[in-house]
Amino acid sequence: MSLYIDVVSLFPEAFIGPLNFSIVKRAQQLGYIVVNIFNPRDFTQDRYRKVDDYPYGGGRGMILKPEPVFESVEYIRKLRGEGTAILLSPQGIPLSQSLVEDLSRKNSLILICGHYEGVDERVALHLADLEVSIGDYVLSGGEVPAMVIIDAISRMFPQVIDSEVIAEESFYRGIFDYPHYTRPYDFRGYKVPDVLLSGDHKKIELYRRKEALKKTLNRRPELLIRSNLTELDMELLQEIFEEIAKNKLG
Ligand SMILES: C[S@@+](CC[C@H](N)C(=O)[O-])C[C@H]1O[C@@H](n2cnc3c(N)ncnc32)[C@H](O)[C@@H]1O
Repeated sequence: MSLYIDVVSLFPEAFIGPLNFSIVKRAQQLGYIVVNIFNPRDFTQDRYRKVDDYPYGGGRGMILKPEPVFESVEYIRKLRGEGTAILLSPQGIPLSQSLVEDLSRKNSLILICGHYEGVDERVALHLADLEVSIGDYVLSGGEVPAMVIIDAISRMFPQVIDSEVIAEESFYRGIFDYPHYTRPYDFRGYKVPDVLLSGDHKKIELYRRKEALKKTLNRRPELLIRSNLTELDMELLQEIFEEIAKNKLG
């Protein structure tokens, strides 16, 4: 069964390029996801097809009106028989790999893209099931965040990407991916770690796991607390700590 991803956006043209290449295209071709864009302007009732208005109480910018957004989402929910509506917003819960996995198991997602100064608060309060942010910065609209979600979801399906590859990627197991190298062995004097040429698969696996742990510890130590570390991971971390202590002392 396909996952329907319906996007509510004032700028459908923003999706033409991103939806039509690589992994996202493949996920659609294989029928895992079906993406459609709905323009709230098509759901306006007035002759000027007005989608924005001035904020009550004064203040800067224009606000996306509630009626066309409600009408769009209600139309889509009727069409699909259901629909988890997600309002893209810098004030939402942070997008994470585990949220992406949860979303990829739904039957129908509706991504609501805001624009201007934002969306009338009643959309968040009475229409959306969830508000999602792609990071602590402000973008001009929800189109790029919606594409981020669609791209991340596309990777979750078998045959789109090898499931073994996904299982080793950053965040999937709670930590970063291991470092990757390809030919040439010696590039401007920067050499590939010799263990990778040893042909010893056990050693290579240990090296990669240790490097992944090391990089996570250096850059995002909080991820280690939340990840499911194995006994082997704990031993490797112990080794890493001993190496750090030795370097500090010596
Ligand atoms: C200019 S922003 C509005 C920002 C809003 N005034 C605020 O400060 O929270 C316009 C729209 O872009 C989208 N957007 C901007 N940054 C985002 C982020 N980090 N994550 C998700 N959506 C974002 C939202 O849909 C938002 O309604």
